[in-house]
Amino acid sequence: MSHASESLTIRRPDDWHLHFRDGATMRAVVPYTARQFGRAIVMPNLSPPVTTSALAAAYRDRIVDAVPQGMDFTPLMTAYLTDQSDADDLAAGFADGVLTAAKLYPAGATTNSAHGVTDVTNIAGVLERMAEIGMPLCVHGEVTHADIDIFDREAVFIDRVLEPLVARLPQLKVIFEHITTRQAADFVAASGPNVGATITPQHLHINRNDILVGGIRPHLYCLPVAKREEHRLALRAAATGGSAKFFLGTDSAPHHRGAKESDCGCAGIFNAPHALESYLAVFDEEGAIDRFEGFASLNGPHFYGLPVNEGTVTLEKVAQEVPAEVDGGGAMIVPFHAGETLSWRFAS
Ligand code: NCD
Ligand code: ZN
Repeated sequence: MSHASESLTIRRPDDWHLHFRDGATMRAVVPYTARQFGRAIVMPNLSPPVTTSALAAAYRDRIVDAVPQGMDFTPLMTAYLTDQSDADDLAAGFADGVLTAAKLYPAGATTNSAHGVTDVTNIAGVLERMAEIGMPLCVHGEVTHADIDIFDREAVFIDRVLEPLVARLPQLKVIFEHITTRQAADFVAASGPNVGATITPQHLHINRNDILVGGIRPHLYCLPVAKREEHRLALRAAATGGSAKFFLGTDSAPHHRGAKESDCGCAGIFNAPHALESYLAVFDEEGAIDRFEGFASLNGPHFYGLPVNEGTVTLEKVAQEVPAEVDGGGAMIVPFHAGETLSWRFAS
């Protein structure tokens, strides 16, 4: 038995953005998240998408069914906004506790976003209603116009969509999800208390060279795509700097190996198996272990207006190797950090 030279116990964390999929894949991946996190904001980009309270309630039940016996995990559901979204249905779902938030995918921005919103003016009434009732809006912040370079899509989204939206509806709680740029970190830091952001582990670890230098690495491709090194450093400063506006959201997005290693590989990094260890490595490297609990366990509930979790988790400073692949329910999935050694290990 190996003994940890160091260990860290924090209040049980939550994952404020992830993808569980459905069916066999969902059943294979849910335990990884449920083991570490008390709750998770579950993305609605199934095919077809989870657009209504009724669809969200049914999906929630399928997820709860996939949680292994003895694990205490609560999925927090979101509704996928479309040009046709019904404000009354969303408000009823929020009042019932079925829905925790609604999700804005600009049409065409990412995996299964074809039904997304074509112009935010089309959902102006829905957003006003959400602001009135205190229902948070999760935002995939990228413009999708063909003339905007993929590396500029997040920064352009701030100028064209997010800044005007926040100015028009300052009471709306907005989560700028999986931010990838210095511009996004700066925008969130400079905004009022109703604007927060999630940051993924991959955007704290990799830059665009990691995807493209020395051969293309499909398992490091996700959206928004990782940017230049200066942006990674800005995100590390935001995550570890102690601001309550930034919190943990893995964007764990499982795709089977064949769908990633393909002529047209899917966007998405599956980081659920070692999510906490991956984040903690960053806080350790930055000399900010004392700020990890805020980022992982306190800032998210505070922003959403939810209680923090009861209970704790413990990580030990014991090296572990990440497997090359894991079972994804019928096909294998290559996890983030595959084949690497992580210096921390989730203990309990
Ligand atoms: C996500 C997916 O696969 O569903 N992919 C990704 O690259 N992050 C969708 C998303 O969050 O953009
Ligand atoms: Zn996502």
